[in-house]
Amino acid sequence: MATASLTHRLATLADLGVLRILMDASIFELQRPFLDPKQIESSRTIMGLDIQLFEDGTYFIVESGGQVAGCGGWSRRATLYGGDQAPGRNGAYLDPKQDPAKVRAMYTHPAYARKGIGRLILSLCESAARDEGFSKVELMATKSGEPLYLACGYKPIEQILDDRGGVPVPLIRMSKQLPFRSE
Ligand SMILES: CC(C)(COP(=O)(O)OP(=O)(O)OC[C@H]1O[C@@H](n2cnc3c(N)ncnc32)[C@H](O)[C@@H]1OP(=O)(O)O)[C@@H](O)C(=O)NCCC(=O)NCCS
Repeated sequence: MATASLTHRLATLADLGVLRILMDASIFELQRPFLDPKQIESSRTIMGLDIQLFEDGTYFIVESGGQVAGCGGWSRRATLYGGDQAPGRNGAYLDPKQDPAKVRAMYTHPAYARKGIGRLILSLCESAARDEGFSKVELMATKSGEPLYLACGYKPIEQILDDRGGVPVPLIRMSKQLPFRSE
């Protein structure tokens, strides 16, 4: 796996423009093996970037050779998925002792797919969540994201159809128990 040249940093609001372009390409290209064109269009309504994560300092960018190649983050807040525009958001803080942290808004640029970027971002998220006392993480996976999460130890909890974008889009809620960290 070509991870040697990958670097990572926290995203800032100055990155928003580049990340929106990356996200559009990611949704359009990397969902094509899993969804039909109408489902992809519909999924744009329910997916997206969440500026709250940028402000919380929980959103990562991975670069390859200085180029932004992927992004994704985690949250100590209740919203499970969806961009700034999505309805039903909840910014309440979670309780690490009983709630799972959320993994959010994972996007790899199509030119960098299958190079370990998603896996790297997930490990950064899990490590940061564990540092804040969370012992479990959960997420709402797209069909495109499901193979990555399965490969990284996430287990499916439930399947839903989200039709808020017009056409029903299949999603899978998944969770993972974080390994105990010895001091
Ligand atoms: C999901 C996504 C972020 C994965 O990013 P990625 O950087 O390509 O993932 P990785 O290279 O780290 O993949 C790690 C492992 O996950 C699995 N995997 C990832 N994508 C896969 C695919 N399309 N088909 C089968 N397995 C896949 C493989 O086991 C892979 O390991 P391998 O390449 O050594 O076989 C990317 O496909 C994407 O941006 N999709 C569109 C947006 C989206 O749906 N995001 C998820 C929101 S929940």
